[in-house]
Amino acid sequence: MSFTADRLLLFGATGDLSQRMLLPSLCALHADELLAPDVKIIGTARSDMDDAGFRNFAREALEKFLPADRRGGMADFLNRLSYQTLDATTLEGFNDLAAKVGTAERGLAIFLSTAPSLFEPTIKGLQHAGLDGEHVRMCLEKPLGTDLGTSCEINDAVAAAFPEDRIYRIDHYLGKETVQNLLALRFANIMFEPLWNAAHIDHVQITVAETVGLEGRVAFYDDAGALRDMVQNHMLQLLALVAMEPPGNFDATAVRDEKVKVLRSLRKISRGETVTGQYRAGAINGDAVPGYDDELGEDSDTETFVAIKAHVDNWRWKGVPFYLRTGKRLPERVTEIVVQFRCVPHSIFAGRDGASGAKMEPNQLVIGIQPEENVHLSMMAKVPGLDREGIRLRSVPLDISMPDAFVGAHKRIAYERLLLDLIEGDQTLFVRRDEVEAQWEWIDAVRAEWADQELTPQSYTAGSWGPSAAIALAEKDGVSWHE
Ligand code: BG6
Repeated sequence: MSFTADRLLLFGATGDLSQRMLLPSLCALHADELLAPDVKIIGTARSDMDDAGFRNFAREALEKFLPADRRGGMADFLNRLSYQTLDATTLEGFNDLAAKVGTAERGLAIFLSTAPSLFEPTIKGLQHAGLDGEHVRMCLEKPLGTDLGTSCEINDAVAAAFPEDRIYRIDHYLGKETVQNLLALRFANIMFEPLWNAAHIDHVQITVAETVGLEGRVAFYDDAGALRDMVQNHMLQLLALVAMEPPGNFDATAVRDEKVKVLRSLRKISRGETVTGQYRAGAINGDAVPGYDDELGEDSDTETFVAIKAHVDNWRWKGVPFYLRTGKRLPERVTEIVVQFRCVPHSIFAGRDGASGAKMEPNQLVIGIQPEENVHLSMMAKVPGLDREGIRLRSVPLDISMPDAFVGAHKRIAYERLLLDLIEGDQTLFVRRDEVEAQWEWIDAVRAEWADQELTPQSYTAGSWGPSAAIALAEKDGVSWHE
């Protein structure tokens, strides 16, 4: 149902996500006059606080996490905020919460960013207090389960109160401008689509490398590991956007229908198609950092790195490997997609290449998602000269830097877009239940394969590109990771 909410209720309002992302995003939207004047934001959490206390808390978060030039009208923004203390494990406090929310003239958007164990009691509490009507939307933040079974339990609990068209599952990568730009690149240009298939593409690489380690998220991360923390959601969404068929239009059903087909076509991985790692002490940018065990304070078998050779079993992608890798404490923070095209079928220069050789390199498209937002296409060109000793060819780049191409555009937080879409009711950039389930099904099979092989993570030094086996995973196919 289409409505623009005028109440936003944040569960987990005093948590890390709220401080770093949600409150800063909302304040930035306010500063850009993208929030209607009557939109009220109600925070709730277990901490005992009143409205003034929450506004102070929010001010501190904004001063810490939002650049000063995006904090315009902060005092007015803080006036939109109020707060209700709540113990979500019992029904008791929910009527007071409903009273605090008051009557939404247009509609209510709820953002649930709490421990998964609180999802079910929270939904029951909301139903009990009448906060589940047809003018209420429910937005869910990860982790949504630890496997297909637990994810289905959460989805069932939410579905008992909210139909799918009012459920908004966040994958914050979809809120990133450069991820959306992938769709523009593929579907707003004629030149890529005819080549976007197994006949012309040799392989695809998707890398999400981070320099950070545990960042204090000890319990959560050690239970999750890189596969469930990064591959199950962000990397599979990137893969789906790269591999999907052109949707009929840019709307929630069309886009998600195409993504889910890709996710369902992922082949179960076989022995030898994954490598896992865990970092040991090393150095990042010249600074010494401890190993994972030291940060954790105990031994653990949790992987902080994973590399996978994946396949999408359909006509378009038959035989094209998708190499995925992600890890903590890698040498640089970079998210990129590399599309490696095939060689031309025949070199007309072969007889004219002299001693130096007219070496032909296949084209490569590198889509930089972060920190650099750029598109880089390598093309072959003739080295200038009179060619008396043979024709020489060299690969030269066609570079587009997004910040240079769009000077003056804000670099936005991914949650700005997603929160606005939630308030306005656009599900295109949110993950549908069938997608989440297809993602988990594939991930569960990866974990089953690991268990079967009794695979434990191999060590890598913090500041390196993961265990050497990850390099071998690609190199045995004659492929080098893009670095
Ligand atoms: C989160 C993971 O989903 O994404 C974190 O839980 C990870 O472990 C983060 O650090 C990465 O997000 P971004 O936007 O910094 O690439």
